[in-house]
Amino acid sequence: MNAARVRSSESEKEGAGRAALAEVTSGMTLGLGTGSTVRFFLESLGEALSSGRIRDVRGVATSRDTETRCALLGIPVVELDDGVELDLSVDGADEVSPSLDLVKGLGGALLRERIVVQAARRFVVVVDSAKEVAALGEKVPVPVEVLPFGWRSHLSFFRALGADPCPREGPDGELARTDNGNYLVDLRFFPRIPDPERLERELRGRAGVVGTGLFLQVADRVLVGTVGGVVARERRPA
Ligand code: A5P
Repeated sequence: MNAARVRSSESEKEGAGRAALAEVTSGMTLGLGTGSTVRFFLESLGEALSSGRIRDVRGVATSRDTETRCALLGIPVVELDDGVELDLSVDGADEVSPSLDLVKGLGGALLRERIVVQAARRFVVVVDSAKEVAALGEKVPVPVEVLPFGWRSHLSFFRALGADPCPREGPDGELARTDNGNYLVDLRFFPRIPDPERLERELRGRAGVVGTGLFLQVADRVLVGTVGGVVARERRPA
């Protein structure tokens, strides 16, 4: 994957990921995010289940990678089916704004993450301090998931929105495919995204765009790992 990521501290990620376990109680059904920060949450959840400190928890995985980790850690995974209600979803992010809007998806999972978030009553995000920005788009591009059919036809549309679009490649230099079999285009804005709400509306209105990494007004709480410990940020009521 060729999208530039921010430099992050492992210990901050671990602090934030592990702190999210405090949000979980026995009997919950969870959305389980993807990435190197959520990995620590999954590890602590696996430990709590195997020690019996937390019981009867199951989760919906947002990627094949998370599904594989859950199998190794003994976390039961279920399909997101009719009647499955998620008490809580825990996931990482690539940027967090002061109003808790997010850019996600640099790890390649964004559409399943959004589907899981929309099914969850509560959404808690875990990040290290390098992910905090004054405005979205300062450090990372916005990933957009596109259907393979006619995908190049979107490039001029993305440019007209003010973006510099970069199709995501895998380590082999071929176009990267998501778990859904689609392509990703990373949209870089300089010096930042001028109007994230408008961008989100315009991208969602484009046939062939099936998901964006803009997660606006959906995070209830962000746990930020810092050198001094974990700081919780709450979404203010609109
Ligand atoms: C997966 O594609 C993403 O949405 C991740 O949640 C995000 O990229 C954060 O990942 P890290 O925790 O690995 O930085």
